[in-house]
Amino acid sequence: MSDSIAVLAAPVIAIDGPSGSGKGTLCQKLARHLGWHLLDSGALYRLVGMAADKHGCAFDDEAAIAILAANLDVEFVAGEAGEPTLVLLEGEDVSGDLRTEATGMLASKVAVLPAVRSALLGRQRDFAKAPGLVADGRDMGTVVFTTAPVKIFLTASAEERAERRYNQLKSSGDDVNLATLLGEIRARDKRDSERELAPLKPADDAVHIDSSGLGIEEVFNRVLTEVNARLVSL
Ligand code: DC
Repeated sequence: MSDSIAVLAAPVIAIDGPSGSGKGTLCQKLARHLGWHLLDSGALYRLVGMAADKHGCAFDDEAAIAILAANLDVEFVAGEAGEPTLVLLEGEDVSGDLRTEATGMLASKVAVLPAVRSALLGRQRDFAKAPGLVADGRDMGTVVFTTAPVKIFLTASAEERAERRYNQLKSSGDDVNLATLLGEIRARDKRDSERELAPLKPADDAVHIDSSGLGIEEVFNRVLTEVNARLVSL
C-alpha cells in the first residue's frame, strides 16, 4: 500500500469499529452537529462489491476488481436534512440494495484485496476538506487518516449488534432470523479482523468506547466531549 502518512487538508475525526456498533448513526449525527463532511467508507467497499458482482468478476480476480474500484462511477446525491441520501452506481439507483446483508458480504470479500484497498485510498482522502471530516470505517485511524487528531474505536457485543440489526431489518419489513444474523456478524467480524491488510483493530491512540447498553445520545455526548477536548488543543 502507498504512503500511510498523509498530510490532512482539514481536521478528521476517525471513527472505526465493527458493523452494528452504532458508528453509522453516530457519524451522521456528529457530521450534522459540526457541519462537517461525512465519509462512509463502508459504502465504497459495498459499491465495489456490487460493481464486481454486476460485471461478473470472480472475487479472487484482484486486478479486475481493483480496476473497477479505481474507476468506480458513483454519485452520492445529498437529500434534505433527515432524508436518506440517494446513491447511484453507474447511473443506476442502488440505494435500496446498498445496506443489505448480501451486499455487506460482497463488500467483505473485496475488502480483503490489497489492490482494491490501495485503489480506494486516494478517493477516501479526498473527502478531507474544510471545515472538517467525520470518517466512518474500519481503518480510518490506522491507515487512511493516521494523523487524525481524534480517533474513536467503537465496539458493542456481537449479540447486541445482531439484535440492533434484527430490529432495524424487521422495522423495514424484512423477514430475518436473529440466529442467522448473529452467525453472519461473527463470520464478518472474523474475516475483517483476521485479514492481513488493514485488519479491524484500534489505532494505538484511539479512545475505546463500548456502546453495549448505551443509547445513541450517551455515545454521542461521550464522543463530543472527546472531540471538544482534542480539537481545542490543536
Ligand atoms: O461498515 P460496512 O458494514 O458498510 O462495511 C462493509 C464491509 O466493508 C465490511 O465487511 C468491512 C469493509 N470495510 C473495510 O474493510 N474498510 C473500511 N474502511 C470500511 C468497510
